[in-house]
Amino acid sequence: MSLQLIQRRLSRVILILMLGVSLAQKNSFPDGFLFGTATSAYQVEGGWDEDGKGESIWDHLMHTQPNFTEDGQNGDVACDSYHLYKEDVRLLKELGVDFYRFSISWPRILPTGQVDNINQAGIDYYNNLINELLNNGIQPMVTMYHWDLPQWLQDLGGWTNPLIVDYFEDYARTLYENFGDRVKLWITINEPQIIQLGYSLPDLLAPNLNKSMVGWYLVGHHILLAHARAFHLYDAHYRAAQNGKISISMQSPWFEAKTNSAEDIEATNRALQFFLGFFAHPICSTEGDYPAVVRQIADNISKADGLTRSRLPYFSNEMVDYVRGTFDFFAINYYTSMLVTSGNSAGFLYIKDAQVEYFDDPSWPKTCSGCFKMVPSGLRKLLVYIKDNYNSPDIFITENGMPDHGILDDTVRIQYYKNHLNEVLKLIHEDGVNMLGFTAWSLMDNFEWKKGYTAKFGLYQVNFSDPARPRTPKASATFMQDIFRTHQLPEEDVSSEKQ
Ligand code: NOJ
Repeated sequence: MSLQLIQRRLSRVILILMLGVSLAQKNSFPDGFLFGTATSAYQVEGGWDEDGKGESIWDHLMHTQPNFTEDGQNGDVACDSYHLYKEDVRLLKELGVDFYRFSISWPRILPTGQVDNINQAGIDYYNNLINELLNNGIQPMVTMYHWDLPQWLQDLGGWTNPLIVDYFEDYARTLYENFGDRVKLWITINEPQIIQLGYSLPDLLAPNLNKSMVGWYLVGHHILLAHARAFHLYDAHYRAAQNGKISISMQSPWFEAKTNSAEDIEATNRALQFFLGFFAHPICSTEGDYPAVVRQIADNISKADGLTRSRLPYFSNEMVDYVRGTFDFFAINYYTSMLVTSGNSAGFLYIKDAQVEYFDDPSWPKTCSGCFKMVPSGLRKLLVYIKDNYNSPDIFITENGMPDHGILDDTVRIQYYKNHLNEVLKLIHEDGVNMLGFTAWSLMDNFEWKKGYTAKFGLYQVNFSDPARPRTPKASATFMQDIFRTHQLPEEDVSSEKQ
């Protein structure tokens, strides 16, 4: 063989090898990228009044308005994870996840919400769960607050009471003290925007108050301060020894202007700033404080309504600094996207002062009948927006998933995850976004708030009419198991195109 021929063959081999490597990289999640699934206390635990647990605002709402949910059901027993946590960990192990995101029920640990009464049985339960996870090689990611406020604190105003910031700090301290030696990933508060809606709109979420923008602004303001307090507490007393990371899980759809008109584009910016920006700007932007457009609208409407001060409280300069930067990574829950115009749409996500109206794009497929739309491209656009507007933070997707009405052969859910994970790969390999992990909502079917058990998000089905609450893997569990274990999306499922 001539030297030239050898050289030609050699360069062809090198080319093939290089192509192979780049293909393999395109469907691979980088070293250190974490996969997990999530649940929350009220949605799965049950044991609502066992072993000294106090009443939460969801217990209270369910028992005082038994027909509140679409199916008249509640979370008294739910998936019975209070008793079946070892079975849950067995499923997680079977799936091959790196971590499990669950929440701690504040009233299970502190029945009145305050630290003068610590419920040891509650501490024991979470110690057992955490130890069981670690013994199986699964990291705990713990949400401190996923919507189940102690009713005792709600009677004092809940998130509208400024003292909630102190109560939350004491609660956070109890968690760091008891679990911080083993928990290295903390989420202070889950989806603050949805908590606000429970105080501003009727018939949606506990505590089911209907205080419109007064409730909405006040709750948001105190959530920001409570989160920052928990973060600073960790910095001052626990970080050096425990060495964990803390964030707050914000939820956001991707909002897209319905038309190219200046009016729709402005409306879309309002939707984004009132929803994501309300929390992301004070915590994650360089300047801190509320987005200018939110401040201006809140002040103007308050004045026009004859108030002497804005419904949106002001942060002092000192408080702007105190809140800014209180995140170790950007935690985001993404489910769907919306088209936006200027207007006044009532219903879910209704924020009166934002003055926007939401629409679906008819070309977006539905996840299930009566459910939200499947818009994976929105995930990529949202995360690129976060990268561009909040100084390229590390980003952790702390929830993503879709509901159906409960089938085992859940091919649409497989498609949903395939499509969204494909976007995550593009974010990593094409957009230079520093992605830390991905969380599937949910490990198993559970109590879906207002919808009761009519909307099922699980990788495992739970039989809620059987007192033993048996769990059965769906087709999506098998599909995700492969991804969780290999940290790769099957090559045939990878598509790559520029945004
Ligand atoms: C957001 C919430 O964090 C979770 O509690 C809920 O079940 C899922 N999204 C699905 O709606």
